[in-house]
Amino acid sequence: VKPSVDHGDPRDFVQKMDRAIVEFDSICCQGKRCVMFYGSQTGTAEEYALRLAKEAKSRFGISSLVSDPEEYEFNILDQVPESNVLFFVMATYGEGEPTDNSAAFMEFIMDPSVEFSKGGSTLENLHYVIFGLGNRTYAYYNEIARKLDSRLTELGAKRVGERGEGDDDKSMEEDYLAWKDGMWESFSSTMGVEEGGAGDVPDFSVTEVNAHPADKVYHGELSPRALIASASGSNTPIGSYDSKNPFPAPVLTSKELFAVGGDRNCVHIEFDITGSGMSYQHGDHVGVWPSNPDKEVDRFLSVLGLAGEDHRHAIVSIESLDPALAKVPFPTPATYEAIFRHYLDISAIASRQTIAFLARYAPTDQARDRLTRWGSSKEIYADEIDGPALKLGEVLQAAVGDEVDGEAPFNSTVWPIPFDRIVSLVPRLGPRYYSISSSSKLYPSSIHVTAVVLKYQTTPSFAHKRMPRWVFGLSTNFILNVRIASSGTNTPVEDHSLSNGVGTLGGESPSAVSLAKMPKYKLGGPRGHYIKENVYKVPIHVRRSTFRLPTSPKVPVIMIGPGTGVAPFRGFIQERVALARKAKEKNGPDALKDWAPIHLFYGCRREHEDYLYAEEWPQYAEELDGKFNIHVAFSREMKKPDGSKVYVQDLIHDLRADLAKLILDKRAYIYICGDAKSMQKSVEEELKIMLGEAKGGSAQVEGVKEFKLLKDRNRLMTDVWS
Ligand code: 2AM
Repeated sequence: VKPSVDHGDPRDFVQKMDRAIVEFDSICCQGKRCVMFYGSQTGTAEEYALRLAKEAKSRFGISSLVSDPEEYEFNILDQVPESNVLFFVMATYGEGEPTDNSAAFMEFIMDPSVEFSKGGSTLENLHYVIFGLGNRTYAYYNEIARKLDSRLTELGAKRVGERGEGDDDKSMEEDYLAWKDGMWESFSSTMGVEEGGAGDVPDFSVTEVNAHPADKVYHGELSPRALIASASGSNTPIGSYDSKNPFPAPVLTSKELFAVGGDRNCVHIEFDITGSGMSYQHGDHVGVWPSNPDKEVDRFLSVLGLAGEDHRHAIVSIESLDPALAKVPFPTPATYEAIFRHYLDISAIASRQTIAFLARYAPTDQARDRLTRWGSSKEIYADEIDGPALKLGEVLQAAVGDEVDGEAPFNSTVWPIPFDRIVSLVPRLGPRYYSISSSSKLYPSSIHVTAVVLKYQTTPSFAHKRMPRWVFGLSTNFILNVRIASSGTNTPVEDHSLSNGVGTLGGESPSAVSLAKMPKYKLGGPRGHYIKENVYKVPIHVRRSTFRLPTSPKVPVIMIGPGTGVAPFRGFIQERVALARKAKEKNGPDALKDWAPIHLFYGCRREHEDYLYAEEWPQYAEELDGKFNIHVAFSREMKKPDGSKVYVQDLIHDLRADLAKLILDKRAYIYICGDAKSMQKSVEEELKIMLGEAKGGSAQVEGVKEFKLLKDRNRLMTDVWS
């Protein structure tokens, strides 16, 4: 049991809540307070926590503290006054795991012998609200929220309203909207509070500060340290690098991995981490911080009437009017242009709640009616906004009848939306995570990423006279454009037709990331973290994972990774190659004699089209003295006797007797990486069939049992996405 926290301890949220309330007394009424804790990995849960806090304020006038559980002690949970409510907005991550920032809290609260500061282990006074964020594609849907909910109930705490659960795969926003009103009703009756809050009050004050010293203005830097570094000309922030201070990594090389001429792109990109002090291990993830394309930046600036040269480079300083609730989400003072290019996620599909809210700023009656209509129902929104994948800037253009699919520069009707609302409403642009595809033993000073470029066409709608539109994933297109920009001459290419097919099919095209267009400031050269001496830099940071090889090469390894699911396994094989070189150096050519086999099951469409790293695998096999075997399912070239496609699971099926021996007798480790939706499921079914058969029983009984044992013993690991 941890000692009770001291008076004035920054880790004591009960005190902090009290202090915050005194400071913001004017908006606090009814004697109630809330703390919104978020277990968030990529920022989504944090967004929802913030939205709940804002609603507590606007509906009931209740002030809240939006808090990262990592920053507080929880043994004082029994001191939370009855008049307060704790909100837990908890994401479930990976295989039913808590997010990094809620791991310590979950461990504390789940401990069967938990004891609180007053010496007891009950929380009878505690009122809580819970909303979970999960993904139905994964095995443990909303596991953390469910576990926490039943644990808190077990400890005597009282839940206010129902537990909410959102499905990130399909319907997070709608799940949230459907849940929250009922919850607020229970909140109102249980807590005895009346509606009639502060109403719609701004979270931030925004001031234009044009006389600001130029070296203290952010142009895309993500941390104060990055700003100091770029102002001093070093362009490399000091200190250790993490999600709060990413490293601006030069792009070392990048290339297209798919055969030229296809309509798909897969980019191999290498980030240089020389001199950064950063380290990584095979199986880790790298967070890549993208920027918005020119076109979207211009569109948004135009809609707000900020597109002119004097406006876009104007410098604004933003302050929170209620720091306990809403922190300024990005560093300022910054230019409008930098805010839309680097800090706000204007490339996402507009949310229904935001659309409904903005109706009040409509410049025409028609625009107001349209926004109200789109925001009014799930079905209309799904048909007219989500279906055609309209971004917020596009929605605002469409509402006033402006051309949406036109080319920049735009001449949009101006919406008089106060800038503080934009800051409150548009989510912050965050990093996107990729499985690292290299081994630090072979490449200690670079991090490799293998990314298929996301682009798809929306379904046309005859009812709405709508043509299909192209949608481009922000981050992968950013990487694609960095690839184009950094290849050859190292100047950004803005001609979209060069991007190997992307953008040439009509609709919207991804603008090149105009890195060189960053305004030039003093110090005699371009600044910001993106370009220096014509080397493109992308902010990155490493996130640790537990997806690792067994330490001993005598343990067999079975890896299953079709498509870009092969990425971490390239790192795994390189890791073994590095070990093999060392072993041979030390023990001579026979050093790998006792090494166990390594099997990689890989799948792609065609041998000469999208076979990733085809030329590398034979070299690895040679260095590993044939211990490494790759089995490839060319899904559009091979056929089963019944004419259906051959996938990785079919190759596994063919080799099931040998594989089962490796697993059951030699304690092999199994890894699955790639698509969680259908691939992971089919592969896991196949594993159960294999194990059931080997045990002389059925897939449903013996197969399931052995499968579970593998999972429990951490010999079956997954790195999957949907
Ligand atoms: P397909 O596109 O021909 O259907 C990488 O995307 C490879 O994974 C492709 O060969 C793709 O085949 C294949 N794939 C698609 N669905 C799959 C599934 N459910 N299980 C295994 N592989 C799959």
